[in-house]
Amino acid sequence: MRGEALAQEVLRLKRERNAVILAHSYQLPEVEEVADFVGDSLGLAREAQRTRAEVIVFCGVHFMAETAAILNPEKTVLLPDLEAGCSLADSIRPEDVLAWKAKHPDGIVVAYVNTKAEVKALADVCVTSANAVEVVSQLPQDRPIYFVPDMFLGAHVARVTGRRLDLFPGECHVHAGIREEHLKALLEAHPGAEFLIHPECGCGSGCLYLKPDAKMLSTEGMVRYAKGAEAREFVVATEVGILHRLKKEAPEKAFFPVKPDAVCEYMKRITLEKVYLSLKEMRHVVRVPEEVARKARRALEAMVAVG
Ligand code: 13P
Ligand code: SF4
Repeated sequence: MRGEALAQEVLRLKRERNAVILAHSYQLPEVEEVADFVGDSLGLAREAQRTRAEVIVFCGVHFMAETAAILNPEKTVLLPDLEAGCSLADSIRPEDVLAWKAKHPDGIVVAYVNTKAEVKALADVCVTSANAVEVVSQLPQDRPIYFVPDMFLGAHVARVTGRRLDLFPGECHVHAGIREEHLKALLEAHPGAEFLIHPECGCGSGCLYLKPDAKMLSTEGMVRYAKGAEAREFVVATEVGILHRLKKEAPEKAFFPVKPDAVCEYMKRITLEKVYLSLKEMRHVVRVPEEVARKARRALEAMVAVG
């Protein structure tokens, strides 16, 4: 089965299972097309909490499915491919957080949602790219803060909030590879374009000197901004899967990726065929041990409440 027939079968199975399909904005276009909701990490976590469906098919990466499972212990969360991981989430271990806590007993740990459940369980609060600035700006002034694991997002949050943050030196291999040198020629070729940049990008501070009015946004923030802005052209620094949504939701505008080969191979492991098999065979169920989930849930509930 392929194409339209496969998509129809996915939709039929979805109804039969009382399932909802949630997809991240970096998913393949054919996967996004069968989804009930496409969004960023914050939107997906909220949608997972809101749904009345019994089954959530999560088209994204493992930490996102884990987040949905932690927030919804009574629901069945399926990830169509268990190999859909995240290099950023893999960069930090619970021991790294415990070592910092041992030195800073009064410290606050802020974990980016791109972490494993065991790391979230040690955090005081989780954040996404959409609400990290707001969450950190609300933290007490007199206690040390450890921001893990993305150092580029952490540096952005420190700059905007003026707070001093201890940064874990983690990065996403896709976004860290988007550098200043990729940007210069594109900005020169499109002088009237607005520049949208994901805060995980390695060109974070460099780009601000090239384009001081750059908009640092989550993937959902980029779609929202592009739809509402007067500009007709946008230079976009993030994983290129976002272009499908941008072109679909703002068809009259033009989008130019800073690095056309910025592709997350983990996100692309989820194919329509695997979504079909996931619903047909109810695989792969993502479970988080209750002891870990209970602790991580506090930090995640604090996250979904902000922004
Ligand atoms: P968003 O929450 O902005 O969609 O980002 C998630 C992610 O994994 C970026 O690489
Ligand atoms: Fe993780 Fe980077 Fe892929 Fe996002 S793009 S899921 S941070 S590896």
